[in-house]
Amino acid sequence: MSNKTFYITTPIYYPSDKLHIGHCYTTVAADAMARFKRLTGYDVWFLTGTDEHGQKIERRARESGKSPQVFVDEIVSWIKDLWGILDISYDDFIRTTEERHKKSVQAIFKKLYDQGDIYKDKYEGLYCTPCESFWRERQAPQGKCPDCGMELEFVSEESYFFRMSRYADRLYQHILENDEFIQPPSRKNEMINNFLKPGLEELCVSRTSFQWGIPVSFDEEHVVYVWLDALSNYITALGYPHNPEKYYKYWPADVQLIGKEIVRFHTIYWPIFLMALGEPLPRQVFGHGWLLLEEGKMSKSRGNVIDPTILVDQYGSDAIRYFLLREITFGADGVFSPEALIQRINYDLANDLGNLLHRSLNMIQKFAGGVVEEPSGEIEGLDRELQELARTTPGEMEKLMDKLQFSAALAELWKLIGRANKYIDETAPWALNREGKRERLNTVLYHLVEVIRIISLLLQPFMPRTPQRIWKQIGIEGQKELHAWESLNWGQIKGRIKVEKPEVLFPRIELTEEDGEKPQSREKTKKEKEDKGKDAKKADERKAGEKEINIEDFTRMDLRVAEIIEAEKIPKADRLLKIKLSLGEEERQVVAGIAESYAPEELKGKKVLYIANLAPAKIRGVQSQGMILAAEDGQGNIVLSAVERDIAPGSRVM
Ligand code: ME8
Ligand code: MG
Repeated sequence: MSNKTFYITTPIYYPSDKLHIGHCYTTVAADAMARFKRLTGYDVWFLTGTDEHGQKIERRARESGKSPQVFVDEIVSWIKDLWGILDISYDDFIRTTEERHKKSVQAIFKKLYDQGDIYKDKYEGLYCTPCESFWRERQAPQGKCPDCGMELEFVSEESYFFRMSRYADRLYQHILENDEFIQPPSRKNEMINNFLKPGLEELCVSRTSFQWGIPVSFDEEHVVYVWLDALSNYITALGYPHNPEKYYKYWPADVQLIGKEIVRFHTIYWPIFLMALGEPLPRQVFGHGWLLLEEGKMSKSRGNVIDPTILVDQYGSDAIRYFLLREITFGADGVFSPEALIQRINYDLANDLGNLLHRSLNMIQKFAGGVVEEPSGEIEGLDRELQELARTTPGEMEKLMDKLQFSAALAELWKLIGRANKYIDETAPWALNREGKRERLNTVLYHLVEVIRIISLLLQPFMPRTPQRIWKQIGIEGQKELHAWESLNWGQIKGRIKVEKPEVLFPRIELTEEDGEKPQSREKTKKEKEDKGKDAKKADERKAGEKEINIEDFTRMDLRVAEIIEAEKIPKADRLLKIKLSLGEEERQVVAGIAESYAPEELKGKKVLYIANLAPAKIRGVQSQGMILAAEDGQGNIVLSAVERDIAPGSRVM
């Protein structure tokens, strides 16, 4: 085991109701990070769990006619199943109703009391039950919670208090000196300006008006305030203070992930409790943004939530994980919409990733009898370019992961996927096959399998299931040594391998009107399931190297009628012509490989079809903007496209 440790936590969620996609967001992010660190050689401890005490849970249990313990047991078992289907690889799941936690919290409370940080007094003020937080009247002049906007209750009871003021200056100093401590930086400024600068209130840390909590060991009328109980989980789960072996190994946490609404609890109360205990502070608390629905924040108390189990059932857990990590910049708020989810599945997973695998395997089957070998021929420029990007991508991803920039890390990986797809177009294996260039063909096909292997390794932290499916298809399922981070170096596939027939990784999803409304309320019908099967079959029957596109893909192309104004040969390039085109208002220049079929002088005045928004390129040092369309008969004869009747240059083709 490595001696580099990495400890990551999620909030412990309230089992007051089933969890929604917002909770999955934090947990999936923590899981991707934990898996990434494990892959890169860290000894990782990943903690999640449930926050089971407090007034809110007690009330919800009573409403449902159950004892609080029975009530939370049922929901916790549902939550564990949810983490199962989302492949959450936690190392420990702490429940605050467990004995190990309760006795530690009692010890913590006693220690703080004995050293004079906690004293007894009377609390008179406001309380927000949904947030389980205290407010002074002047902080909430309208009687509404400044955090969640719900009606506050007036509370008057004997309580224990914690002397926050003792530690306020030290905390302020720590925050100023440690830029990494509160991330992103906007949250740090908010804490300083709204809480530290105005001066911290002493915090009420026990309750007497209800029962469902951990009793204060020396004064059993009182139960420990739920946030002191809950925050302690991050160390009690490691055995603090009675069995501190794991605690010494993993604490302080490297990253504590939370949503932005509980940053105050984690960057003010929590570090102050730790200071009072004489323990080190976490290295970083990261308060990410909210997942919003088009109509606002998703929340259990508002009842407008997306049920993650139905989403997973419909689209698969890897697709949901990918969407959550890719769609939203970690830190910022983001909107969850079914359309955006389906687009990610269709474009990124079905098209980019799925087609890369599918095209490659099809060509290997069709052109090489399903077998590729370690290349013996010359490695060319295009090959080297692909190898080079495969070599630098992991490091780029690691840098971004260290900043918890999941989306940007995935974007790096997708650049490699895009590059590999382009490599197919550039090397045109079908032409190599036709021309009987066997050695070159094998080199190209080997490069495809090897880049797919590397891509699949890098996918693991984000989408734990897909890599297995890819390994099976490229025939390296049993070869564990080809799955590890250490095998990211190019050229690990030795000798020869036999690939399988391609299977569709992610079937494309047609966006129906219903999808646009409410994916969560939609059950898959039998017919749809059959159709999905058919789609997959159809995809299987696609010709080698061919890519299926849909109408949106097509409309992304700006196709026009263009008139050729003049053409000239490019010196030392036998097949190329430099051609000036008119689009009516505008002129363009393209380089076309048609010199063996057309003389420059016969082109003037011809109207051809032209893709106007193809990214410009330099060909033999000559600028080429877009591409004119032509057909090739397989013998090298090229015939330009034409319009059937006269039409103005610049007209759109659709
Ligand atoms: O606050 N978008 O538990 P909780 C993004 N028990 N993340 C969301 C989200 C959304 N719409 N909704 C929830 C508690 N989350 C306490 C925590 S920790 C010592 C105690 C995620 O069940 C996000 O991580 O209300 C948020 O902080 C957490 O769930 C709140 O879960
Ligand atoms: Mg909450």
